[in-house]
Amino acid sequence: MKKNFLNLGKQPLANSFLASNSKRVKSKEFFYNLRVAFDTDTCLVSVANPVNPKFQYTDQYAHRASESLTMRNAFAKIARKLDKKFSPKIVMEIGSNDGVFIRNFDKKKIIAVEPCRNLAKLTKDKYKTYPNFWTKKLAKKIFQKSKNADIIFSANTISHIPNLKETFEAIEKSLSLNGVLVIEDPSLLSVIENNSYDQFYDEHVYVFSAIAISNIVKKTNLRLFNAEKIDTHGGSMRYYICKKKAKYKITNGLKKILNKEKKSKLNQLKTYLNFSKKVEESKNNLIKIFKKLKKENKKVISYGATYKSSTVFNYCNIGTKYIEYVTDTTLNKQGKFTPGKHIPIISPEKGMNNSVDYAFLGAWNFKKEILKKEREFIKRGGKFITHVPSAKIISS
Ligand code: TMP
Repeated sequence: MKKNFLNLGKQPLANSFLASNSKRVKSKEFFYNLRVAFDTDTCLVSVANPVNPKFQYTDQYAHRASESLTMRNAFAKIARKLDKKFSPKIVMEIGSNDGVFIRNFDKKKIIAVEPCRNLAKLTKDKYKTYPNFWTKKLAKKIFQKSKNADIIFSANTISHIPNLKETFEAIEKSLSLNGVLVIEDPSLLSVIENNSYDQFYDEHVYVFSAIAISNIVKKTNLRLFNAEKIDTHGGSMRYYICKKKAKYKITNGLKKILNKEKKSKLNQLKTYLNFSKKVEESKNNLIKIFKKLKKENKKVISYGATYKSSTVFNYCNIGTKYIEYVTDTTLNKQGKFTPGKHIPIISPEKGMNNSVDYAFLGAWNFKKEILKKEREFIKRGGKFITHVPSAKIISS
């Protein structure tokens, strides 16, 4: 039974940056109530009222996975690892974005699926790319022409698809006998440990635990046989899933992760009710910091126009009163305005200048990369603000 445990209030689509902050454009903005629920049967944590993916994954989709060096390196590393371990002949990626993973493979091996047409366009000349949503119908179409996939890879995508049953059934039909589905998504344990409530936004329909993934895939002809903790996106998990009859044994790594999740009580509703209280505390403490800096007349900006920060700003009601602008390296976010709070977005070259006193780490998951890049800012007394794992000014 689904039980709501967290209410993050009225939220816009985290990816819908506004082209202008005119009254006309703002009046058309779409909002929904972001509530998060725990399913007491499967232990699955999900957005209670998901938005229709057709409104989210359009030809305007802004996110480019290869913008970050951290992600480019991470995808190159896992591509090498999968190639070495499984020697796949056919590799399919669901949600291939701008090609950051597939570009590590010989193009003859690759099938890419990417519903955002602006992104699919970026890879279609070199790689076989289907500009479609992943469905059973698409799976049938693809594998009429191709042998089944030895690896199906999907990073930060399966958690975005409301219909998990159809998704996993279509995957099961597309895998070769000992084919492996490898998925990467933010880890629920990390969210609970870091109080990173901003992992919840419209696109993150699910934040998975190994317990929940195991329960869900069991409902189709699949089983989870391995899991690895990874650093990306502020704490993620990589799951290895195969057909029930495939040759793989359950690994000790998976057993340890399942035990840790049980110890952390990820299978109990009270864990989430407790988390919800901590989220509210985090909000109050973050607002206190912004109010104090405002009183002191400090110049505060935000670093990284992330989807996560959209949840934070809208939940905490932090707008242009507190944040002058947001810097972001993504060209097609620059010149636009953040969803809901309409904070202008500019390039770091323009925005990270000597007048900035404080920068909120909207891209806190890239903290290491950013602190390294912004040594000069820190050296001259600039400071970062974060809300993960608790709201504070980072002293360096
Ligand atoms: P993500 O957390 O959804 O991957 O988004 C990260 C965003 O942060 C993306 O729009 C790029 C931006 N960004 C910067 O502006 N500067 C940086 O140094 C890094 C690492 C990311």
